[in-house]
Amino acid sequence: MTPGTDVTLWRIPLPEKSPGPQAWALLDDRERQRAERFIHDRDRHRFVAAHAGLRLALAAETGQPPRALGFTATPGGKPQLERHALSFNLSHSGAIAVVATCRGSAVGVDVEMAGRLRDLDGLAGMVMTPDEQARFAVLPQDLRQVAFMRVWTRKEALLKADGRGLTYDPRKVEVDIDDGAERTVVLEGISWTLRDVALAPDLAAAVCVSGPLASIRQRSVAPLA
Ligand SMILES: CC(C)(COP(=O)(O)OP(=O)(O)OC[C@H]1O[C@@H](n2cnc3c(N)ncnc32)[C@H](O)[C@@H]1OP(=O)(O)O)[C@@H](O)C(=O)NCCC(=O)NCCS
Repeated sequence: MTPGTDVTLWRIPLPEKSPGPQAWALLDDRERQRAERFIHDRDRHRFVAAHAGLRLALAAETGQPPRALGFTATPGGKPQLERHALSFNLSHSGAIAVVATCRGSAVGVDVEMAGRLRDLDGLAGMVMTPDEQARFAVLPQDLRQVAFMRVWTRKEALLKADGRGLTYDPRKVEVDIDDGAERTVVLEGISWTLRDVALAPDLAAAVCVSGPLASIRQRSVAPLA
């Protein structure tokens, strides 16, 4: 048996149009209230599709009906399942959401649509350690967008796995700017494994678990009619 955590990464397509009554029917009152607060229809549609998809993924993993799942949150605000030991984390960007699930470890995930970010040096100063900034500053221009998103998704996945999210200063954690194999990061005495995930050419994504990571299996949540 391979030591380490097996992660399932669920992909949820987020259409711009309304996901329809079946998706709304899966949500609880709190999710519906959050959905109703969006100003733009597209953002509301995507939120509803993401949370319906989250429930379908977690239902497949736990064997519970999607509507019956209850959520709590850690003191840092990280959502958790009530009455189940399954760990999960959700991330969404543009037309996709992803949910990472596993058992026995904490998990975090981040997905970001690759865009043309401006003032990359200014952004690097806000999120990178001095060593990462120095290495970023000498990268060729054509590698900088991808390298920035790689660092950013790694840091978010790590801080979401930890549960403090961006309340923890990302400049205090080194994740390395290079492409390539997974890396181990020790944060306040806890060892975490970070791995980049190739989802699509225009998407940057990373998964993080506490302890060693054995595998990441990708699955899809079917869109609701
Ligand atoms: C949580 C946070 C990392 C999300 O980053 P993001 O790039 O905007 O969003 P992502 O799509 O990657 O992740 C969002 C999901 O992360 C999850 N999440 C929320 N808080 C989290 C936390 N502390 N740790 C891990 N995951 C968290 C939720 O499922 C959320 O989805 P939802 O908003 O649809 O319920 C970031 O907003 C953060 O750390 N903020 C600081 C804490 C904060 O201000 N909280 C708001 C309180 S009102």
